Amino acid sequence: MKCQRLSQLPDIRGKTVLLRLDLNVPQSAPGVVGHEDDWKIQKSLPTIEHILSRGASIIILTHWGRPKGRAVPQYSVEPIARFVGRLIKKNINVLPLAILKNKTAPHMQEGHVAMLENVRFNTGEDKNDARFARSLAALGSVYVNDAFAVCHRVAASVVGITKHLPSFAGDQLYLEVSVLEQVRERPRQPFEVIMGGLKFETKIPVIRRLLPRARHIMLSGGLSSTILASLGYGVGASEIDHAYFKQARALMKDKKIMLPADVIIGHKHNRGDYHHARIPIAPATLCSSAYAIYDIGPETVRRYSQFIKKAETIVWNGPLGLFEDRPYDQGTLAIARVVAARSKGHAFGVVGGGETVVALKRTHTLHWVDHVSTGGGAMLEYLGGADLPGISALEQKRV
Ligand code: 3PG
Repeated sequence: MKCQRLSQLPDIRGKTVLLRLDLNVPQSAPGVVGHEDDWKIQKSLPTIEHILSRGASIIILTHWGRPKGRAVPQYSVEPIARFVGRLIKKNINVLPLAILKNKTAPHMQEGHVAMLENVRFNTGEDKNDARFARSLAALGSVYVNDAFAVCHRVAASVVGITKHLPSFAGDQLYLEVSVLEQVRERPRQPFEVIMGGLKFETKIPVIRRLLPRARHIMLSGGLSSTILASLGYGVGASEIDHAYFKQARALMKDKKIMLPADVIIGHKHNRGDYHHARIPIAPATLCSSAYAIYDIGPETVRRYSQFIKKAETIVWNGPLGLFEDRPYDQGTLAIARVVAARSKGHAFGVVGGGETVVALKRTHTLHWVDHVSTGGGAMLEYLGGADLPGISALEQKRV
């Protein structure tokens, strides 16, 4: 990544730094910060501390949820400001977006931290509107982007703002890109990839990009259900992506793609009604329309683990089943333990995606993994070979 870094910041004593963070964590109830998945917040703290240690003040820019240009109270950043404030032991005031009309920087004392209200409350954010970007830039004199997780979005606080201010990459952003680039281009062999989750659309470019270098790509969740359905298996009410049947069948021509050998099938409305099923070699009906595939089975855990245990590089993204509902969390938790154990001292383990991080936390092994990405969609797009607009914008600002 060729851009200016935090260590190259000029003298910022007495100045206000606009710090774009991604504090977009899940809500445990409307407007409540979910503590189980606060990874992105935790990873943002060193950059806040670094900037403050250099004698500057900070205005944090972030979004929360997808309010699409409307000021939805549930997505006010007030609770996030309180949450971060408790962690850094400072009072963080939330500045209303109305201050942007002043077109000048508010007075900020050295060492103070404020947070602008949810930037997505203004329609200009998602449209990368030039006027909105300029009004954001007027709040400070230097811009730092440490929000890897939103760098795949062409947004005013990520892209447009860099046109108006000296712009720098935060350390977490820089680390993310360096690690993911290494894994994407030069993984140590054997390289094993585990892909779960639902969306074929976002995962297929990653699978294609990593396939030439990976020894296996082990699939589960909606990805494997879609492939099974495309091959003629009856998968009942399982979540599948009809639009990707052709691509799904084409993928299976590559012997490196692994599908589950067995699955856990459950009733749609009765979580106590579930059973184990092996996947037969010839296509067959696996379940009726009242049932769906909700997890991988023990034989799949055994097979996938065999390879993970010999890997030198591991990339894991997405839960392997309906992780949020017991008893369908078992496959994900089992694979989490194996990935973490292999990553501890042996393989280089890279994990990303909110639920994947929660699974590692629940197994108390998060710290065993070498790199836990703060990005879900951004990590997938980067691994899929895309140029992320937020990063390109910083690279263009290089002096
Ligand atoms: C994320 O949580 O992945 C980022 O904050 C991006 O959010 P978005 O998908 O709503 O743009």
